[in-house]
Amino acid sequence: MRSRLLAASVLALAVVGPAAVAVAQQATHLDLAAVVNARRDTMKAMKDAMGELAAMIEEGQNFDAARVADLAALIELNTEKIPHQFPDGSLIPGSEAKEALWEEREEFEKTAGEATVAAKALADRSALVTEPADLERAFKDVAMSCRACHKAYRKPF
Ligand code: HEC
Repeated sequence: MRSRLLAASVLALAVVGPAAVAVAQQATHLDLAAVVNARRDTMKAMKDAMGELAAMIEEGQNFDAARVADLAALIELNTEKIPHQFPDGSLIPGSEAKEALWEEREEFEKTAGEATVAAKALADRSALVTEPADLERAFKDVAMSCRACHKAYRKPF
């Protein structure tokens, strides 16, 4: 009796098991793809913001201190999201993140924090200036904070 029950449940597992596992794996895979897409969107928004800031600050095109403050605030907010957008297990094919990011979690999050501080400094400074040149230093600090993290935790192209 016991062994027949066992045999029946083994059979049931054999039939249901692989399908259920496949569905579960697919769901996880989709979730992780969404996680990677979300962090890419965070990064792309910052890239666009940096492009607009560079035009205003380095080339003096349509300089608008209020716009600088908005863009710097966007970067500040987005860098604050970074520590939450790289959960364990989210290094999937297609991601450009380096393994080191998960191995040096604390250092990675510290690097994100430095970018947040640099972006906030740019936002604060933009309230005090009239000339684009007055923001060059603060802008460069933000650019360097992006680069520092990419150098350590993003695969080179
Ligand atoms: C604390 C680390 C960190 C900081 C700070 C950071 N990045 Fe990234 N960035 C990454 C990582 C890691 C990736 C790769 C993500 C992936 O592919 O999973 C990435 C990817 C990108 C990408 C490629 C997005 C895509 O389309 O795949 C761009 C563009 C980018 N970052 C721009 C920026 C800019 C601009 C800044 C600064 C304002 C910045 N990043 C700050 C870690 C960081």
